[in-house]
Amino acid sequence: MKKSQCILLFLLSILFTSANSVYNVNVATFGAKPDGKTDTTKPFLAAWAVACGSTKSVELYVPQGRYLIGQAIFKGPCKNNATNIKIDGTLVAPTNYWDLENTGYWILFNKVNGVSISGGTLDGQGAGFWACRAAGKNCPNGARSLTFNGARNVNVKGLTSINSQASHIVINGCNNVIMQGLKIVAPDNSPNTDGIHVQTSTGVTITGTSIKTGDDCISIGPGTRNLMIVGVNCGPGHGISIGSLGKDAIEDGVQNVTVKTVTFTGSDNGLVLAKTSASTGFVRGILYQDVIMKNVKNPIIVDQHYCPRNEACPSQNSGIKISQVTYRNIRGSSATPIAMKFDCSVTNPCREMNVINVKLTYQNNPAQSSCLNADGKISSSVSASSCLN
Ligand SMILES: *[C@@H]1O[C@H](CO)[C@@H](O)[C@H](O)[C@H]1NC(C)=O
Ligand SMILES: *[C@@H]1O[C@H](CO)[C@@H](O)[C@H](O)[C@H]1NC(C)=O
Repeated sequence: MKKSQCILLFLLSILFTSANSVYNVNVATFGAKPDGKTDTTKPFLAAWAVACGSTKSVELYVPQGRYLIGQAIFKGPCKNNATNIKIDGTLVAPTNYWDLENTGYWILFNKVNGVSISGGTLDGQGAGFWACRAAGKNCPNGARSLTFNGARNVNVKGLTSINSQASHIVINGCNNVIMQGLKIVAPDNSPNTDGIHVQTSTGVTITGTSIKTGDDCISIGPGTRNLMIVGVNCGPGHGISIGSLGKDAIEDGVQNVTVKTVTFTGSDNGLVLAKTSASTGFVRGILYQDVIMKNVKNPIIVDQHYCPRNEACPSQNSGIKISQVTYRNIRGSSATPIAMKFDCSVTNPCREMNVINVKLTYQNNPAQSSCLNADGKISSSVSASSCLN
């Protein structure tokens, strides 16, 4: 861009600013080249600094094209609580996965308030990293594509995320987050490419979203409260999982999670609860409603005997208390004979499990269920007629 063009753009942006009350910032003005080859990390961070420093609401615009971005940390707090990032282009991670080092992040928003992202594609270019892992070579940790740490009032709409090295989107330590109309895609054999991971966060809503990956569709970690998942299509992948929990002996619980109007297609699991091990944590107030299973290997699982890394497990009973879990209107087909499996611990049985109208088939016959140390009520459920205590 010529200097004169640059000045013109700058003047135009001032003009726009005074005509509208929204301040407009365009990454092109900062020299971001949309050729997919020129590193645009610095222009993006410079544009962010201006947007974040604006005292009034601001739109940060990314035009069409491919933008190569190395590790980018968008730091808050900002001087405004209304930064809208509008993306028409694709952000591309470096093909050399060592460029992101061992930090575990590609794009990170830290302590922002009132940030929204609309549109755009994130291409994590994970294939090289997965191959490195598969070959058992010396590889870095792998980066999540998009992370929000300690953020409030976040709205992500219409974003596509493909081929993340590790998890696609992570919501950690956040408050009031809406993710809507997302598309997340990675090959079903790609390792640890979770769709969305939520932990230590309150008031997260995930809606109208399609997730096809090699690991969990959505994974829910300790300290999650008031999570709403509605209108989500999952599969292939490992289902919607609460857990693993109990990695740390002292751990916050998971409370008030609703999973509603969700379809699982050809996934390894459906609704998974709490691959838990010994800890102070708990899981309570979980509602699974109006869920369709299409040829899912393990449609419903509660497993308190899950034993990560097989260390010191056989004598260890889960200390995590599971209670008030409702399964209502779950229909469809299981790819294995046992469609519902509650495997709870003797010391902490699962309490107040409600199974209402669960009708799952295996090869066109009612599927079976198996329950261990679980109390609760079952009504009009073909697949679980006399399973609970
Ligand atoms: C943004 O929100 C925070 C927390 O609610 C508040 O403390 C801060 O004053 C707000 N900043 C602006 C610029 O409105
Ligand atoms: C449970 O979470 C939902 C959001 O998913 C929220 O609207 C509701 O108020 C929460 N209930 C309680 C008791 O906190």
